[in-house]
Amino acid sequence: MANMQMPIHGETSLPHKHLKLLGKDIYLYREISSTNTVARLVALSGAPEGTIVMSKSQTAGKGRGRMNRQWVCPPGKGLLMSMVLRPEIRVQFVPQLTLLCAVVVAETIKKVTGCAAGIKWPNDILIGGKKVCGILAESNFSNGSPEYVIIGIGINVNLDQPDLPADRLDTSTSLKLELGQRVSRLTVLKQFICTWDQHYQGFLEGGQGYLRHHWIQNNVILGRNVTINKENDSISGQAIDISENGGLIVRLADGNIQEFLAEDISIGSNYFGSNT
Ligand code: BTN
Repeated sequence: MANMQMPIHGETSLPHKHLKLLGKDIYLYREISSTNTVARLVALSGAPEGTIVMSKSQTAGKGRGRMNRQWVCPPGKGLLMSMVLRPEIRVQFVPQLTLLCAVVVAETIKKVTGCAAGIKWPNDILIGGKKVCGILAESNFSNGSPEYVIIGIGINVNLDQPDLPADRLDTSTSLKLELGQRVSRLTVLKQFICTWDQHYQGFLEGGQGYLRHHWIQNNVILGRNVTINKENDSISGQAIDISENGGLIVRLADGNIQEFLAEDISIGSNYFGSNT
């Protein structure tokens, strides 16, 4: 294995291929519990920024999603990947990386399929109001800066209707279902890497201003009425902007402006059907 220490912990030693693609180290597994979990171990082994862990499947078809949910995807039908990042930014700006990744995925899907993909804050990618991709970022900090950030991405590429969870038939989709034909996962991966490299560089140089500009171009939520679900409470208003912290700025019914952070809430509205 060139240029880096061999990963040594637990699942990293399962059979895998080590590839180089567009300058990135890629560890490709057949089945692991979660690409985020293995990417974390690979990061702890010293993997450089940009290293990608991919798997054809996550155990029992289920990886980890946000808010302790699961990410369901039959083997070989989705793009299941996690990227190791080592950005020199302060902790409070880490959520911006999730937003940046959402920009990259939305643009990747548009370029590869021509489908009108858009971002539903914080990190869902929708086509026609249905979720086609979810993003799960996890990080480890010391002294106010991240040691590493893992960005996990699950894209429904070639899922057919019966592959979608029964309770999400109305709220989920795949690239194949939208396009009416199979889509090459390798093509999606290559486009993702190229688009990521371009936007990550732009973000490191241009910060929040760069991110906000590109996020606004790709979002489908600003200007819409949203319902913020917070523990047992819910509150409605109009989404009007994103903040430096990667939060959603909402004008509430009483006219007050409030920032909501992704860790604390889930969001839904009639327009989006449900909490996808
Ligand atoms: C969400 O809940 O919307 C986020 C889903 C993130 C799923 C991806 S699949 C690849 C990576 N590994 C995981 O275990 N989760 C993320």
